[in-house]
Amino acid sequence: MTQIKNDLFIKACKREPIERTPIWVMRQAGRYLPEYRAVRDKYDFITMCKTPELAAEVTIQPIDLIGVDAAIIFSDILVIPEAMGMKLEMIESKGPKLYNPIRNVDHVNSLKSVDPYRELKYVLDAVSLTKKQLNGRVPLIGFAGAPWTLMTYMVEGSGSKNFSEIKKFIYNQPDAAHKLLDLLADIVANYLSAKIESGANAVQIFDTWGGILSPDDFAQFSLQYITKVISKIKRSSEPVIVFAKGVHYKLDDLASCGADVIGLDWTMNLKNVRNMIGSNVALQGNLDPTILYSPKEKILNEALKVLESFGKGNGHIFNLGHGILPDVNPDHLKYLVEVVKKESVRFH
Ligand code: CP3
Repeated sequence: MTQIKNDLFIKACKREPIERTPIWVMRQAGRYLPEYRAVRDKYDFITMCKTPELAAEVTIQPIDLIGVDAAIIFSDILVIPEAMGMKLEMIESKGPKLYNPIRNVDHVNSLKSVDPYRELKYVLDAVSLTKKQLNGRVPLIGFAGAPWTLMTYMVEGSGSKNFSEIKKFIYNQPDAAHKLLDLLADIVANYLSAKIESGANAVQIFDTWGGILSPDDFAQFSLQYITKVISKIKRSSEPVIVFAKGVHYKLDDLASCGADVIGLDWTMNLKNVRNMIGSNVALQGNLDPTILYSPKEKILNEALKVLESFGKGNGHIFNLGHGILPDVNPDHLKYLVEVVKKESVRFH
């Protein structure tokens, strides 16, 4: 096995002592990079996901061009619903669409079971190829959607404003909802285990839509299943990160779901969160992604605020509070990475 040369990210996940704070950003392999758009001009998004050489190429772009401390495999959370038999399309400038959304238990029962080594082999091949091409430069992160966020897309059929369909589904057909969540938890756990076996050094679970639930509903429909996923992942010491957007009201519960790292959006105060759960988990985040629209001086000041808010010590991974936006100037991200690398030294 190749030794990882820059393992700051993994050490930070484990709250081990390091010389500076590592940084990577969610959606770092994406449209804000002209080099990504050049590949994307030639292939559609799903073809890119399904072609390991292309996925590896765009996964590695931000390592070469931006200098981040970890790579995240280029793919999408919606490859799981697709593998279960739903037709997926990425609609230009609108986002993903899943056709014939789930509305009842018969439809849940008709979904295909997923063996990641069969239906999602292309992702695993992308992971092992990327791992080989990275040649130990930085760790590689694998990911999946949380069962709740996946179910939300499967029922809504796309992104949503009011989330009416998913709410109707869970309140009127709770048994069907729990059946689907349980099925998704098994699939996600097997899939993340397979990614680790294929070479991922850490995995992140994205619960993008956790925050649309009330605290009680979050516990019942999301956290319970995230906990199940984590308990079933086969791993040796690969860290698990949970990013649940907008779930500031459930951080103490979230910290006991078995994750090594909790990702925070920018609405939370790192210092307070650290005081609350920092002795149990590492924290990842949490610069507002729109700060990257600002002049460099403001980027520096805001980055310093994040570092100061966490304060001295171990267990912080710098990241944005959500994905980088497609119209951000890549030089601004590069600048952020430079200042975090330089300025974080005195916090260690
Ligand atoms: O972080 C990375 O760089 C790895 C790749 C990655 C993508 N999607 C690539 C992508 C990851 C980790 C995801 C996760 C994902 N996908 C989430 C959870 C994270 C989050 O942002 O909340 C969600 C909700 C999705 C579903 C999805 N895929 C949406 C809503 C969209 C359209 C909106 C958008 O941001 O573009 C996608 C498309 C998508 N996934 C793109 C990329 C690079 C853009 C597609 C394109 O090139 O046209």
